[in-house]
Amino acid sequence: MKLWSGRFESETDKAADSFNSSLSFDKRLYRCDIRGSIAHCTMLGECGIIPSYEAKLIVTTLEGILADIDNGETEIKDAEDIHSFVENELVARIGSVGKMLHTGRSRNDQVALDTRMYLREACTDILAGIKALITRLTDIAAKHTETVMPAFTHLQKAQPTTLAHHFMAYAEMFARDAQRFMQARESINVMPLGSGACTSTSYPIDREMVAKLLDFPAVTANSMDAVSDRDFVIDFISAASVTMMHLSRFSEEIIIWSSDEYKYVELSDKFSTGSSIMPQKKNPDMNELLRGKTGRVYGDLMNILTVMKGLPLAYDKDMQEDKECAFDAYDTLKACLGVFTALLGDMKINSDVLRKSTDGGFTSATECADYLVGRGIPFRDAHSIIGQLVVYCIKHGKTLQTLSLEEYNKFGEFDESIFDVIRPERAISQRKATGGPAPEAMKKEIAAMREKLKKIK
Ligand code: ARG
Repeated sequence: MKLWSGRFESETDKAADSFNSSLSFDKRLYRCDIRGSIAHCTMLGECGIIPSYEAKLIVTTLEGILADIDNGETEIKDAEDIHSFVENELVARIGSVGKMLHTGRSRNDQVALDTRMYLREACTDILAGIKALITRLTDIAAKHTETVMPAFTHLQKAQPTTLAHHFMAYAEMFARDAQRFMQARESINVMPLGSGACTSTSYPIDREMVAKLLDFPAVTANSMDAVSDRDFVIDFISAASVTMMHLSRFSEEIIIWSSDEYKYVELSDKFSTGSSIMPQKKNPDMNELLRGKTGRVYGDLMNILTVMKGLPLAYDKDMQEDKECAFDAYDTLKACLGVFTALLGDMKINSDVLRKSTDGGFTSATECADYLVGRGIPFRDAHSIIGQLVVYCIKHGKTLQTLSLEEYNKFGEFDESIFDVIRPERAISQRKATGGPAPEAMKKEIAAMREKLKKIK
C-alpha cells in the first residue's frame, strides 16, 4: 500500500514503480528509521499531539518490528522505501492506530534523520578502523626506529632515514583522516526531524526532546535547509576519499617494495595471490585492489557532488541518489582499512636489504656537502664539489663508502672523519629536530601519536 495512494485513481506503472523504489538499498536504514520513529512517537505522546495510550502501543509495536527484523522473522520487502515498509508493517500489526505515527512528519525530514543517524555510526565505525591502523603502524614504527632505509624523492634515493620515520609519515596522514571523520560526524550530528516536508509543522512539537532521545546535541536551524541539505553526506564521502588516497599511496609503495627489484618487504602468503600460469608468482593483489578501489570511492564523491549540483530548494527526489554512494564509500573504506591493517601485521620487513640499499644511490651526498660547509666552504660551492665527486664515483663504479681518502682529496679538503660522516646512522642521528628521523625524535613522535590515538573515538 502506497503512503500517498489517496490522491491517485490508477496504479503506478510497474516499471515506474521499480524505478522509483529505494527499498533495495535503503533497507539498511531500518534500525535508524525505527529508532527515529520511536523517538518521534514518544514526543507526539508526551506533547499530547496523539493520545498517550496509542503512542505507547505504537512504540512497543515498533520495538517488536525492530526485534523481528533483527532476528530474521520479518523480511523487508514489498514497499516503496524503508519508511513505507515500517509504516505498512505497523498498520498491519495494530491497524489504524499505526496511522497516527506520521503526524507532524514527512518522509523528507525522516530520510534526512535516518541518513544522519546511519552515517554518524558509520563515522564511529570507520574511526575505530583508522585507529586500529594507526596503532599497528605506530607499533611497527616503535620496533624500527633504528632500521635504516633510503628516503626517496622522485622515487630516486635521496637521504638516509628509518623505517619508523617512513611509517610514521603515514600514521600522521591517517591521524588527519581521523580528524576529518570526527569533523564529518559533527556536521552529521544535527537533528532534522520536525522540518516536515519543507516548512516544518503547525503541531506543537518538541524537537529538542526528539534530539535528546536520539542523542543529538543540536537541532537544525532552518527547515528548508534541513530537508535539502546533503553536505554531511559530502563530508563523509570526502573524508573517505582522502583516506583512500592515503591507503593507495601506501599500497603503491608496498607493491614497489615487494617487487624482486626492491625486496624491501615480503607479503605473507595470507595476503598475496598466485598466477594461474606462472608458478613462481606471488602477487600483491590486495594492495592493487586497495589502489583500484580508491577510484571507486572518488566516483562516489563525484556522484553526490553532481547529484546536488543545481538542485533547487527544498527536497527533490534526486536526493534519493545520496544513499548508494555513501553506503558504497563506507563499505569500501571499511573493508580496505581491515585488509590493510591485517596485511601490515603479517608483512616481513627485510631490514638488511633496506640497510644495504641505503649505501647505494649516494644518499650521504648531502652529508658530504655539509661536511665541507663545516670547513668554511659556502653551501653552493660544496654542493657543486660533491656533485663532481658523485660523477667521478659513477664513472669509476664506486660509492661514497668505497672511495679512498686520496680520491676524496682530489675534490676538496677531506680527512679520515669523512668516513664517519657518510655513515647513514650518523646522518640520521643528527636529524634530531622535531619531525626528523633521529631515534630520539622518533620516540617523541611515537609517544605524541599514542596520545593523539586516545582522542580518536
Ligand atoms: N526514498 C526517499 C529518499 O530517499 C524518501 C523521501 C521521499 N520523499 C518524497 N517526497 N518522495 O529520498
